[in-house]
Amino acid sequence: MHPMLNTAIKAARRAGTLLNRALEQRGNLKIETKGHHDFVSEVDRQAEAAIIDVLHKAYPEHAILAEESGFHQGSDYEWVIDPLDGTANFLHGHPYFSISIALRYQQRLEQAVIYDPLRDELYTATRGSGAFLNDRRIRVSTNFFEGSLLGTGFPFRIPRHLDCYLETFKALFTHAADVRRSGSAALELAYVASGRLDGFWEIGLREWDMAAGALLVLEAGGLVSDFSGSNEFFKTGNIIAANAKIHKNILQTIQPHLTESLSH
Ligand code: IPD
Ligand code: CA
Ligand code: CA
Repeated sequence: MHPMLNTAIKAARRAGTLLNRALEQRGNLKIETKGHHDFVSEVDRQAEAAIIDVLHKAYPEHAILAEESGFHQGSDYEWVIDPLDGTANFLHGHPYFSISIALRYQQRLEQAVIYDPLRDELYTATRGSGAFLNDRRIRVSTNFFEGSLLGTGFPFRIPRHLDCYLETFKALFTHAADVRRSGSAALELAYVASGRLDGFWEIGLREWDMAAGALLVLEAGGLVSDFSGSNEFFKTGNIIAANAKIHKNILQTIQPHLTESLSH
């Protein structure tokens, strides 16, 4: 295993232990509002500090982009961290959240870890070496669009995109067997990589929501793009991830409904 992936796993597991413990005492947590329907708790910050501590000790020269503490300058290696993806779930004791850590080198995704600490499920990928769930190789599904199980996220922080989003939802829902909104984009991307979901789309994500999940899906044989089919999803925040067939179907199905600019 690549030593940098190993370090990321150590960091994710450390944060996972912290989150599992904090979940039991979440009634006492201090919670702040970052923006519209956007909450952060002291646990998000503690988990992030624990991750950064592990990464920084191993690679003090690497840059870090972390959701709660922002950008820390460094070399061409850059860790992209979401210490708790699914904060709203976590704060309600709804058992679906994850830790997401990716490493980019000169902007190219190299390593990915997504950890579901409640199920002890560890998703990992190294560029060019495939994707794994608890050391078992995973692949995207081979299912067809008709009858597929899709994942999505609602634009709850950007209400102006709601109408446009609902049009994409209606169009896709007609073809899919059903749609899930589970509340952790990173984990849902990991589910696409492992074939538990056939595809995923969301508007307005941030880099730390997508970085590890994007590499996982690609290494599991899937496709990842923005809503125009190009790989600018980090810039636009809009993402489609699926097996190649369903990716094309999602892209074609939502295109006529993208009537406005879907910026952050
Ligand atoms: C959020 C979750 C959610 C998605 C939001 C994200 P957070 O991340 O991934 O599923 O719909 O767009 O911001 O705030 O829980 O880290
Ligand atoms: Ca997130
Ligand atoms: Ca988060």
